Amino acid sequence: MNIFAEVHLTDSKLTQLNSFLEERKESFSKIFVLLDDNVFDYCWQSLVTSCPLLQNVELLQIDAGEEHKTLDLAQQLWLTLTERGADRNSLLINLGGGVITDLGGFVAATFKRGMPFINIPSTLLGMVDAALGGKTGVDLEGLKNQVGVFAKPEAIFLVPHFLDTLPETELLSGFAECVKHALIDDLPLWEKIKNEEELTVELAKKYLWEFTLVKKRIVEIDPTEKLERKKLNYGHTFGHALETHLLNSGNKVTHGACIVFGMLTENYLAFKSDLMLEADFKMLEEKLLKWFPNLPTYNKEVMPAVIDLMKHDKKNFKNQIRFSLITEAGNSVVNKVVEPALFEEAMEYYLKIRK
Ligand SMILES: NC(=O)c1ccc[n+]([C@@H]2O[C@H](COP(=O)([O-])OP(=O)(O)OC[C@H]3O[C@@H](n4cnc5c(N)ncnc54)[C@H](O)[C@@H]3O)[C@@H](O)[C@H]2O)c1
Ligand SMILES: [Zn+2]
Repeated sequence: MNIFAEVHLTDSKLTQLNSFLEERKESFSKIFVLLDDNVFDYCWQSLVTSCPLLQNVELLQIDAGEEHKTLDLAQQLWLTLTERGADRNSLLINLGGGVITDLGGFVAATFKRGMPFINIPSTLLGMVDAALGGKTGVDLEGLKNQVGVFAKPEAIFLVPHFLDTLPETELLSGFAECVKHALIDDLPLWEKIKNEEELTVELAKKYLWEFTLVKKRIVEIDPTEKLERKKLNYGHTFGHALETHLLNSGNKVTHGACIVFGMLTENYLAFKSDLMLEADFKMLEEKLLKWFPNLPTYNKEVMPAVIDLMKHDKKNFKNQIRFSLITEAGNSVVNKVVEPALFEEAMEYYLKIRK
């Protein structure tokens, strides 16, 4: 199955989205829009103004935040859809960041065994990563994305001006995935961004399509993550473990900030395992620390608990932790097993270099 839906980079009048709705409107019995309260405040009005066909749709508005990406909320949404007369020919529009597209994609894919949905990501992270590639799901008892399905949206529409209202921390969270994309598979793109002093919204818009194409290329080769797609998990073994630990202990932290922590610690593993040259290791450390201030921190005592969480990583095989690493900018290796003694060392090293 080709899981990669068509992605459209929209113009300022959202012509591509309007054409889609115009062409398909008779085939949908009803249209629902899932969004969170921030997206309602910042994006909804401008979307309706450009797409009058959305004026009379049914809104499903939820509170913002990762803590709502749960089975409980999925159940509430299935019930609301039922009460409001949704059927298999209704369309669900997921308008929002990764929380909305993950949750909404899962709800749509499972409601009456599947109703059509489209994704309109409103965060940088959503545009270059979460809304693309067909992975949907919810967290379970604090374990990230523990339950979910692969599901293909009807289409994905990128609206660059939604980035204008994004808070700085959320912009940087998305940039973590952009930088990751360049590092794992796109040396020319890395060369274009590597000398930037700052990661700005203008820069995000300038290279939005190129950041997106990296994921598209990889997912088209390997939709269900047998091998090639594992590259995208660079930074995510350590990153997801720390994100899970911090969220479970009530800390607010972005996904991207944890992925930067993951790239720094996993580069340490690559360097200490002779997979990465010292010069590359140092150069990457310098760039990541310059671009991403205010990275997450932790007490040394929690390191074993964070490392323990890596045992739940979806890439593991026969109880062995498998890493997706880079050996240099633009070059990845997957399924790497490294000396477990390096795990705590990497986390201690990070605490020393973190500013
Ligand atoms: N499915 C995948 O392949 C995939 C890939 C990467 C990440 N993810 C998931 O994505 C989630 C993170 O996504 P995210 O960072 O977009 O989080 P998010 O959806 O929580 O959005 C971040 C914050 O920005 C706000 N927001 C959204 N759009 C805005 C706008 N235009 N202006 C102002 N504020 C806006 C949201 O309300 C929220 O408070 C995580 O759950 C992660 O696991 C999934
Ligand atoms: Zn990610």
